[in-house]
Amino acid sequence: MTFTRKDFPDDFLFGAATSSYQIEGHAQGGAGLTEWDTFARTPGNVLNADDGARACDHYNRWPEDLDLMKEANFDVYRFSTSWARVMPEGTGAVNQEGLDFYDRLVDGMLERGLKPAATLYHWELPVTLADRGGWRNREITEWFAGFTEVVMKRLGDRVWSAAPINEPWCVGWLSHFLGFHAPGLRDIRATAHAMHHVMLGHGRSLEVMRGLGMKNLGAVCNFEYATPVDDSPEAQKAAKLYDGYYNRFFLSGLFNRAYPADVMEGLGPHMPKGYEKDFDIISKPLDWLGLNYYTRKIIAPNDGPWPSHEEAPGPLPKTSMDWEIFPEGLHAFLKRTHDAYTRGLPLYVTENGMANYDKVSGGKVNDQARIDYLNAHVAKVRQAIDEGIPVKGYFTWSLMDNYEWSRGYDQRFGLVHVDFSSLQRTPKASYHAMKAALAR
Ligand code: FCB
Repeated sequence: MTFTRKDFPDDFLFGAATSSYQIEGHAQGGAGLTEWDTFARTPGNVLNADDGARACDHYNRWPEDLDLMKEANFDVYRFSTSWARVMPEGTGAVNQEGLDFYDRLVDGMLERGLKPAATLYHWELPVTLADRGGWRNREITEWFAGFTEVVMKRLGDRVWSAAPINEPWCVGWLSHFLGFHAPGLRDIRATAHAMHHVMLGHGRSLEVMRGLGMKNLGAVCNFEYATPVDDSPEAQKAAKLYDGYYNRFFLSGLFNRAYPADVMEGLGPHMPKGYEKDFDIISKPLDWLGLNYYTRKIIAPNDGPWPSHEEAPGPLPKTSMDWEIFPEGLHAFLKRTHDAYTRGLPLYVTENGMANYDKVSGGKVNDQARIDYLNAHVAKVRQAIDEGIPVKGYFTWSLMDNYEWSRGYDQRFGLVHVDFSSLQRTPKASYHAMKAALAR
């Protein structure tokens, strides 16, 4: 790496992130069926119809995985708790075995000197709740508050930080407008409802955690930089709107008590009635904001219905996801978020990393491209700190290769290679580089 821990303030934290459905092996331990299980079983949704039934078998191999975290000299581990594992029906009965699993996991982190950074929901909605409309149904905000209470009554005394929901844009837009993620809807009204309910669910969950006396609570949003395809006013407007529903919608809701006017031009008529009254709950004070960042998109106007634009190919080098590598975007989001929304609140980069077609050869994985990617992005974090932006930590996605949603097991984001037949873990060159950079 071109950086070491010593280049950062003493209290700056380095971590890696994972999520439950992507690594645990959801067929084990009494977990309920999730909407990803049924989405994956429907032809055309997921590459090879892969699902998370076995994944990395982290459910059994977690001690080895936490050892890998510790041996890489990471300070903090960002993990998530599966709703369907803890409450197989979504409400009501608790699967004690599931709760015990997370209890052991948190203790396992503490024993290894790792800070547990919990995310309550990283997309594995119990099918029973999907049957009742999932995020389209306002009642989900109470179901989610109930799940929060069950999990945090057990773990809340030991987690270092907690956030209710991973990436509200993916829950709202990607899953209900673009249809790329479960439940695979493509409907503007479903989108408007889900976008709002995910924000309200965030707020209710936060209230529950505050009520339990928990500290260090935040939100994790994803950000994608939008570049206009050319300098025409139409292209500028298209890119601005993309930025609106992708990035500003959630920041405005959390910090400005309103949704952006340009986004409401399209979503407004489809919003749940009386949504404006929910901002007291949505915009409850946070202790930090987490930014997930990977790439940018080139946006071109078109004649279709709102939002009347499409993605155009970009010229920059790409990862195996076909995502352009654009570290400047990370700096731009840290700066704008601080200047225009959070104004002094601690910021964390809660996900950043790249997929690469990594291969094991002679027991090693040469992923120099990932080392370069991480170096370029960490340098942007360093630049932001130099400018006085309070960035307090950086998490790479991901500790290990895992179930990459609609891309199945084809896309490898890990610092550690996983052979999905033998489940053998092989630290890649990027893991060794990170370990050396983070040595104390
Ligand atoms: C993020 C998700 C994470 C993973 C990475 C590549 O949007 O939070 O689960 O899929 O992208």
